[in-house]
Amino acid sequence: MDNHITIFDTTLRDGEQSPGYSMNKPEKLRLALQLEKLGVDVIEAGFPIASDGDYETVKEIGKTIKKSTIAALCRTRQVDLESAVSSLEHAAKPRIHTFIATSDIHLQHKLQMSREEVLESAVNAVEFAKSHYDDIEFSAEDASRSDPEFLIDIFTAVIEAGATTINVPDTVGYALPWEYADLIKTLHDNIPNIDQATISVHCHNDLGLAVANSLMAVRNGARQIECTVNGIGERAGNASLEEVVMAIETRKNNMDYTTGINTKEIYPSSQMLAQITGKGVQPNKAIVGENAFAHEAGIHQHGVLKNPLTYEIMTPDSVGLTSNKIVIGKHSGRFALGKKLEELGYHLNKEDLNRVYTMVTKLADEQKVVNDEDLMNLMATTKYSKEK
Ligand code: KIV
Ligand code: ZN
Repeated sequence: MDNHITIFDTTLRDGEQSPGYSMNKPEKLRLALQLEKLGVDVIEAGFPIASDGDYETVKEIGKTIKKSTIAALCRTRQVDLESAVSSLEHAAKPRIHTFIATSDIHLQHKLQMSREEVLESAVNAVEFAKSHYDDIEFSAEDASRSDPEFLIDIFTAVIEAGATTINVPDTVGYALPWEYADLIKTLHDNIPNIDQATISVHCHNDLGLAVANSLMAVRNGARQIECTVNGIGERAGNASLEEVVMAIETRKNNMDYTTGINTKEIYPSSQMLAQITGKGVQPNKAIVGENAFAHEAGIHQHGVLKNPLTYEIMTPDSVGLTSNKIVIGKHSGRFALGKKLEELGYHLNKEDLNRVYTMVTKLADEQKVVNDEDLMNLMATTKYSKEK
């Protein structure tokens, strides 16, 4: 089995659907260009039937982006399908992504449809999409809470109708990693025509398990991961692109999977999204948070300054950061303070450093973090020997 993992980015669709992350056409276009630079295989550009603005945006992205596949989302309804098909008319690599729910709870309370009707609607939608484009994805919404027997039937039927990717969403982020792994394995082993389609996973993060579930799925036969920059998305978000990719990258000796992502574009992409939406990234967010490569504790600082591998499992450079961050606070040690002062042009002997260190820890107790300006102000009023 090919070990390349297709990265399907849905920042501009599922990500944008979450409160506070709405983007206009120029913003989405700017981000789409960055996603192409990042090397994502598929950009889900929007949900064309949702609004005229979204339709126009998908169209514009389709005209502009040449390397990544551009996906347009639609329900299995005819109006949705027609809108998605026409929104992609200029795309170099178009993909129709059609979906319908498959869990009994959605069938009864949302769709009021029988399983037979859902299956028929899915097959009709895929056949219609296939009459326009080759690359067709079908998603069984709420798959992780659906009857696996029904999933086998519907996925077999849509592959027969022309779907080239079948997506298994954990729509409500309910699955546990081993349950989701079992579901993917069951589908992989029991869909008779599975060799004609790629299994995709789309995990939400309601229990904080979206990345773990995506990785477990890959181990069990999935070859496409749907994810978003900074993990944005409905409710608690989607699987975070940077976490999925850096897990694969950092542990490649143990997992042996590859992606086409240019990891040095991860941090710029994260920052661009934050800047466009005005929503900052939580400081302790893995890979792209402000603290992801920051060290305040003396023992850690000492280790990292001697050899970064002591406390860093990937280099800041590998994700597009220029360096790690040594933060001077009350937990910092003399070694890190000495290095920081040297960077600022102050070369202190041991005795002076001890004195300044005492003053700095006192200051840190009062104001938590001591920044470069604080240190320079302190040094401006402190006597120290100019000789090293
Ligand atoms: O979470 C979900 O089920 C979705 C589908 C439309 C793929 O976003
Ligand atoms: Zn979703």
